[in-house]
Amino acid sequence: MKVIDSVKITQNACFDFRKKGLTVGFVPTMGALHEGHLSLIRQSIRDNDKTVVSIFVNPKQFGKNEDLSYYPRPINKDLYLCRKAGVDIVFSPCLKDMYAKDFRTKVSVEELGDSLCGEVRPGHFIGVATVVVKLFNIVGPDIAYFGQKDAQQAAVIKQLIKDLDFSVKLKVMPIVRENDGLALSSRNVYLNKQQRKDALILSQSLELAKGLVKNGTSSTKNIVGLIKKNINSVSSAKIDYVEIVQKDSLIPLKRVNNNAMLLLAVWIGKTRLIDNAILN
Ligand code: PAJ
Repeated sequence: MKVIDSVKITQNACFDFRKKGLTVGFVPTMGALHEGHLSLIRQSIRDNDKTVVSIFVNPKQFGKNEDLSYYPRPINKDLYLCRKAGVDIVFSPCLKDMYAKDFRTKVSVEELGDSLCGEVRPGHFIGVATVVVKLFNIVGPDIAYFGQKDAQQAAVIKQLIKDLDFSVKLKVMPIVRENDGLALSSRNVYLNKQQRKDALILSQSLELAKGLVKNGTSSTKNIVGLIKKNINSVSSAKIDYVEIVQKDSLIPLKRVNNNAMLLLAVWIGKTRLIDNAILN
């Protein structure tokens, strides 16, 4: 496995793969790798001749008062996991190689990036879209792997690939959970023992909503009301949003249909967690 911190060297290495007729799978990450990331990496290794993983904590997608400075960065463990999985290249650039002092460009996926997480984290998806476009141009992958855990991010990237004519294929992989239902996240390490228990309210709420739909409730207003009440029963929980939208377009729905997706963003103490599920 090669660990490369230079944009140019990574670009050349990936170009060489393609010149040899080898297919390239790409998994962009911010590190602190867990089984969720590894499920994407393993799928890429199954599908492609070569797999490239990027590890870059992208400052442009963090708000002013967010966790950029203390976001976990266990680089040695991450490299060990990538090597063990069979990754070919880890691209781990330094900040100034990604963003020169005179960097000026912003990629904005309008509407899709403005609602939900975009509303409470203004500029977040501009930061995500900008870095993903750069990474696509550096790696030039045949297939890129993203997680359904970040459903809005996946919708934004899908639109961006279509709008900007990237020839990359997008594969969105299912959410990987702990045995008790908590969706794996690099931010789960912030939770203390009690908060870790409280955090189960997210996945429990998704199950509750699925049950309501199964029993015939289709009014999204009623479902959202009950879910909010359920989350608010946990004293450490503070809701950012609870919304039911159409998968892909993210348009809010009045009634649950086959592609209705429930998205949650909830603070547990000082940790912001997100989760989602298709309701039908
Ligand atoms: P990061 O949070 O490190 O996530 C990298 C990828 O792993 C994302 O596509 C995310 O959806 C996926 N992932 C995270 N937790 C998962 C889980 N429990 N199950 C399945 N997949 C999971 O998302 C980012 O980084 C950044 O925004 C990035 C795309 C790298 C741009 O900076």
